[in-house]
Amino acid sequence: MRPTATALFLSFCGLLSVESSETSDISENSSLINIAQINIKLNNAKCDPDANLNTLQMIKKAGYPAEAHIVLTEDGYLLTLHRIPGRKNSPSVLLQHGLLSSSIDWIVSGRDKALGFILADQGYDVWLGNSRGNTYSRAHIFLSPSDSKFWDFSFDEMGIYDLPATILHIMSVTSQPLHTYVGYSMSTTSFYVMAIKRPEIAKMVKVMISLAPVAFTGNMTSPLRFFAPITSSIAMITRFFGADEFIPQNSVIWHILARYGCNIDLFRKEICGNIIFTIAGFDKEQFNYTLLPLILAHYPSGTSTRTLLHFSQEIKSGKFCAYDFGENKNLRIYNAKLPPDYNLSSITVPIALIYADNDQLATKKDINRLRGLLTNIVDDYRVPHPKFNHIDFLWAKDAPTLVYNKIIEIMKRKVN
Ligand SMILES: *[C@@H]1O[C@H](CO)[C@@H](O)[C@H](O)[C@H]1NC(C)=O
Ligand SMILES: *[C@@H]1O[C@H](CO)[C@@H](O)[C@H](O)[C@H]1NC(C)=O
Ligand SMILES: *[C@@H]1O[C@H](CO)[C@@H](O)[C@H](O)[C@H]1NC(C)=O
Ligand SMILES: *[C@@H]1O[C@H](CO)[C@@H](O)[C@H](O)[C@H]1NC(C)=O
Repeated sequence: MRPTATALFLSFCGLLSVESSETSDISENSSLINIAQINIKLNNAKCDPDANLNTLQMIKKAGYPAEAHIVLTEDGYLLTLHRIPGRKNSPSVLLQHGLLSSSIDWIVSGRDKALGFILADQGYDVWLGNSRGNTYSRAHIFLSPSDSKFWDFSFDEMGIYDLPATILHIMSVTSQPLHTYVGYSMSTTSFYVMAIKRPEIAKMVKVMISLAPVAFTGNMTSPLRFFAPITSSIAMITRFFGADEFIPQNSVIWHILARYGCNIDLFRKEICGNIIFTIAGFDKEQFNYTLLPLILAHYPSGTSTRTLLHFSQEIKSGKFCAYDFGENKNLRIYNAKLPPDYNLSSITVPIALIYADNDQLATKKDINRLRGLLTNIVDDYRVPHPKFNHIDFLWAKDAPTLVYNKIIEIMKRKVN
């Protein structure tokens, strides 16, 4: 079933049609995997060599030291935590990625551009987290990714288990509290969950910086919202995307997409860029098309279907609450028919909000609701560029001047 959605995306990006015309020996019922295999043969060597590198290799290639740590969560998941180590006793910062993504978020745009490298240059000890289920965190002490149970999680579990395990590990290595947590999109959501459910851990974070904060999603303007009513139907989403894992990054088809991404002309790059813009908000000015092959090579990284369902439920309900299992199971798990709301007012960690006007996923109205409930906001920064969109936080040409300078200012301020 999964290839259906993939095919849709491919054809959106103008890639599938190119391939079909070049590979006449493909019959009507060939699976996409077969198409993929043929394409590997067609593929020439013009690709960006970085498309095949992982986070660790890309950090090293950029000329920085790199480490990978394995972190065990209380519920048995094994997460890979990447690090660009700083000098002894340098303040630590944890950068946590967005939905369907990984630690690559923070380095993909390269030296002098990517936040991970910029913070390393500033003398910070930089840690790049990976949430359960993504390319780097697909292991568990007794479950395998082929078990349904492995995928029984949403951003709740990322907040309740992944972030605490990650933060405790960093603290045990560095023997100091975590100086700053920078969350982007879904990793602001999971941080809020942690701050509410595990306040004893959140207390050890000196400041939390929310990039494109996502708690309430009822006012989302991205066309994605039109999928919410459909996709909150478990049957539908399961049919299109698989019941457990949502689009695995290591599926061969995505690599093909990436390889083709290397060779696609500017016209197709624009089409592909436009698909991304439709979801995130239009901003041609800030999008670096040269990065597209690299972006396609590393996204999407896997997550559970339930994570998507959880967001869909909230887009529909307008609430920020635990996962809705349906009345019967809710009664068993929450002792109530409806899932409990998260109490954002109970968060005590100092939080800085950084958001953009043209962000269709983290919209002004929804952020207003969040702001109204948070009680310890230490900075409130609107990116001074009217077209700045959701993905610009990671990839925009001017992200360093428009956003990262502000992050550094907040972090320096907190030292005192
Ligand atoms: C269509 O797919 C089936 C099942 O994979 C296969 O057995 C059959 O040979 C295919 N038909 C053609 C024409 O390729
Ligand atoms: C949209 O935002 C407004 C203002 O912040 C809020 O009152 C309203 O409940 C939101 N709508 C939904 C559907 O969440
Ligand atoms: C949420 O937390 C705040 C602060 O701890 C508390 O005053 C308030 O009663 C809580 N609200 C609910 C609905 O539990
Ligand atoms: C676009 O990305 C490429 C590849 O990383 C980089 O070399 C280039 O400097 C970037 N351009 C801008 C304007 O950021």
